[in-house]
Amino acid sequence: MRLTILGGGGFRVPLVYGALLTDRAEGRVTRVVLHDLDAGRLAAVTRVLAEQAAGVPDAPEVTATTDLDEALRGADFVFSAIRVGGLEGRANDERIALAEGVLGQETVGAGGIAYGLRTVPVAVDIAHRVARLAPDAWVINFTNPAGLVTEAMSRHLGDRVIGICDSPVGLGRRIARVLGVRNPGDAWIDYVGLNHLGWVRGLRVAGRDELPRLLADPGLLGSFEEGRLFGVDWLRSLGAIPNEYLHYYYFNREAVRAYQQADRTRGAFLADQQARFYREAERSDGSALAIWDRTRAEREATYMSENREAAGAGEREADDLSGGYEKVALALMRAIARDERTTLILNVRNQSTLCVLDADAVIEVPCLVDANGAHPVAVAPLPDHATGLVCSVKAVEREVLSAAESGSRASAVKAFALHPLVDSVTVARRLMDGYAAVHPGLAYLE
Ligand code: G6P
Ligand code: MN
Repeated sequence: MRLTILGGGGFRVPLVYGALLTDRAEGRVTRVVLHDLDAGRLAAVTRVLAEQAAGVPDAPEVTATTDLDEALRGADFVFSAIRVGGLEGRANDERIALAEGVLGQETVGAGGIAYGLRTVPVAVDIAHRVARLAPDAWVINFTNPAGLVTEAMSRHLGDRVIGICDSPVGLGRRIARVLGVRNPGDAWIDYVGLNHLGWVRGLRVAGRDELPRLLADPGLLGSFEEGRLFGVDWLRSLGAIPNEYLHYYYFNREAVRAYQQADRTRGAFLADQQARFYREAERSDGSALAIWDRTRAEREATYMSENREAAGAGEREADDLSGGYEKVALALMRAIARDERTTLILNVRNQSTLCVLDADAVIEVPCLVDANGAHPVAVAPLPDHATGLVCSVKAVEREVLSAAESGSRASAVKAFALHPLVDSVTVARRLMDGYAAVHPGLAYLE
């Protein structure tokens, strides 16, 4: 089986390759094709992968190319994990929004819209090429904003594109852990929403919902990441555990202030950190894998640090450090390639899952996965406050998709203006002007 990784020079590629190395079963991936626009990044990552593979019998063969069509031809699976505009683009997304007093974050609010506006046209181009060159391939989309980008691609690839994110898995795992569930894999997690905008409403083990036990126990509730981030009282008021990205909504003012006060935004920090990694990994005589691992540990430890600081949540727990992103990807591929039925929380078309959204809206929901793809399961409806957010944000995503399709700057302004975290149409106009001035990838908007 052949796996093509778009964004193959990306920092998380060794996580995926490391997971592939643990897979010994028949039908596993035997060939990995890395595609990236940047040959230097490919060289650095290829060095890391070679060290990972040392001594592993039958390690998947790795090749690298900067030719997209060549990378796609003959692929069985395509992972798309690209970052249009790079980390400098992410830093600009953050900076321009924060200067207007609104959230600058890569997937939420104004920053997410700017990132989506320049990513969707590229993702659509990839989808067209996949449809032409590898029509039977399954596309696993990691590219953020993952829900929006998956929906853009699904218009051309249908259910052959599936979006993934590690945050619901991490959340489910933390809840299972504090509840003392022996095997978290046995728990049924009742989660639904959009990517980075979902809620756990129940966690069933052997037919029994254990979440009420957690909500009833302030000690337990305050003992894990989301409890510290949102506060015990707010979680009890909600009667659910929100995805950590809802911190940007429920504590927006505090998050914006913390981001404004930070020395550097996350994007700016990562732009420096990653530039250093690629420089060192490509040139050093020592171990590129060791440099990668050190860099990864620092990246994970500082994830969402401004939010944790704003909430007084302290450091991340050791158990939470590895997100499990690569495990979701591998589990999804195995389930499809070998018809190994499993349940995973994925980004797929709604069909009739949430009755307030149309069938083609991509949502994040538990899915049964088998050789025929990912099938969303029936879930209970969301409460009105959550439905309201989901519908507003989906309307914004749709406006981004129509701006990307038509090239209409007015649609793009509308996307910014309708976002619940952008508080004025005037601000939306200034955001559009600010982003257009720094992002060449937005030149198509007229
Ligand atoms: C989580 C999210 C991803 C996101 C990542 C950002 O894993 O689910 O969607 O890409 O965090 O982490 P970073 O280190 O780039 O801030
Ligand atoms: Mn994510």
